[in-house]
Amino acid sequence: VTGAPASPATLTGRLVRLRPLRKEDYSLLFDWYNDPEIVAPFDRFEMDTWESFVQAVESAPDDLASTAPRYVVERIEGDRLLGFVGHYLAHPVLTLTDVWYVLGDRAERGKGYGSEAVGLLVDSLFTGSDRPRVGATCDVENVPSMKLLERLGFRPEGTLRQALFHHTKWHDVRIYGVTRSEWAARPK
Ligand SMILES: CC(C)(COP(=O)(O)OP(=O)(O)OC[C@H]1O[C@@H](n2cnc3c(N)ncnc32)[C@H](O)[C@@H]1OP(=O)(O)O)[C@@H](O)C(=O)NCCC(=O)NCCS
Repeated sequence: VTGAPASPATLTGRLVRLRPLRKEDYSLLFDWYNDPEIVAPFDRFEMDTWESFVQAVESAPDDLASTAPRYVVERIEGDRLLGFVGHYLAHPVLTLTDVWYVLGDRAERGKGYGSEAVGLLVDSLFTGSDRPRVGATCDVENVPSMKLLERLGFRPEGTLRQALFHHTKWHDVRIYGVTRSEWAARPK
């Protein structure tokens, strides 16, 4: 993949903007990031230390494989911090760029902010590089996440059985993807 910007710009939608992290965001993000009920109701979870969190977010812009947050999601009305999103190279050989997303402020879920945020991210991944596909994976039980992806035009491409261990057992994972041409043709 070529053309990925090292220093991402702010991406502005109708309800939310995605902007690169600032130092003053770290404390709230770190609290959300270390709360399994917020980030990982359907996902693997590991506690992070402050030092490794800061190191990870600050090195992420130069590392396409990094799974650290890359943007905060900010509600335009009131400049309120809602959550964070990222993308990473999901395979050592295949060119798979996966997006991920968390609305840390649970009271603000279900209002369309998550889908707009992920839409802005996907748009920037297609416009900022030549990648032909953007993907995402989620636990087959993560209904809000699957609905978000389907609302944006991602298609389910298959199921990885027993691929993710969390909450004491193995879970099946659905793979989603959207191609550059599907994204360009999506209803706006
Ligand atoms: C996934 C997440 C980001 C969705 O954000 P959101 O802002 O609540 O989503 P939206 O309001 O844009 O809604 C997207 C779709 O999900 C549906 N949805 C949202 N919350 C839902 C819920 N609790 N139950 C069922 N459907 C839900 C919406 O109705 C909408 O579908 P529709 O277009 O068919 O109406 C949010 O739930 C979250 O942060 N979850 C925890 C972290 C996580 O699981 N991330 C994904 C890892 S793969």
